[in-house]
Amino acid sequence: MSTVKKTKSTAKKPAVKKAAVKKAAAAPVAAQVTASDNGHHGAEGSGVRRRDFIHIAAVSFAGVGAAAVAMPLVSQMSASADVLALASIEVDVAAIQPGQAIKTSWRKQPVFIRNLTPAEIEEANKVDVGSLRDPQTLADRTKPGKENWLITLGVCTHLGCVPLGAAAGEVKGEYGGYFCPCHGSHYDTAARIRKGPAPLNLAVPEFAFISDTVVKIG
Ligand code: FES
Repeated sequence: MSTVKKTKSTAKKPAVKKAAVKKAAAAPVAAQVTASDNGHHGAEGSGVRRRDFIHIAAVSFAGVGAAAVAMPLVSQMSASADVLALASIEVDVAAIQPGQAIKTSWRKQPVFIRNLTPAEIEEANKVDVGSLRDPQTLADRTKPGKENWLITLGVCTHLGCVPLGAAAGEVKGEYGGYFCPCHGSHYDTAARIRKGPAPLNLAVPEFAFISDTVVKIG
């Protein structure tokens, strides 16, 4: 036990000496800077003072830093080719029979394309639009002459679940459109919210028919 204590006490002493040496070495440097500054104060036009140099150096480093930050931002702003390729999709809907729907994907989001039956169109049109939470007619959500083609995002407007009702055999909810089982939102045959917590109708993406059966989404 005593041996250990002795070893500790002898080891501490040199450390204190080293710290003292460091202090002694630092003092002349500080004095040198002050002296240098003072020397130039009295000599106008004799060149850049030390304080100026420190200031200029700091500004230069700040400039380099700004450029380094700007480069990644610029490269992030330019869209890559694969992103541009996904900006729009074209879907041939010829095979989708009345009463059927398909799920596809656009910009990494599910999209429902539904071919409404005459009965489903009638069901949507007889609703008092003023009574709806998100008032929209079926015509507002489809294209003229193509009211049977209901194209919406397959994303519940409550918290983003994918509703049921697009695939064969899936529950369509109390209003015959789509049903989100996450918290019980019911959408009608025009994919409008009718019951449950979702605040809005299923969103209709930008789309256009580029031929009788091919639709371009996006
Ligand atoms: S996410 Fe659809 S009801 Fe909550």
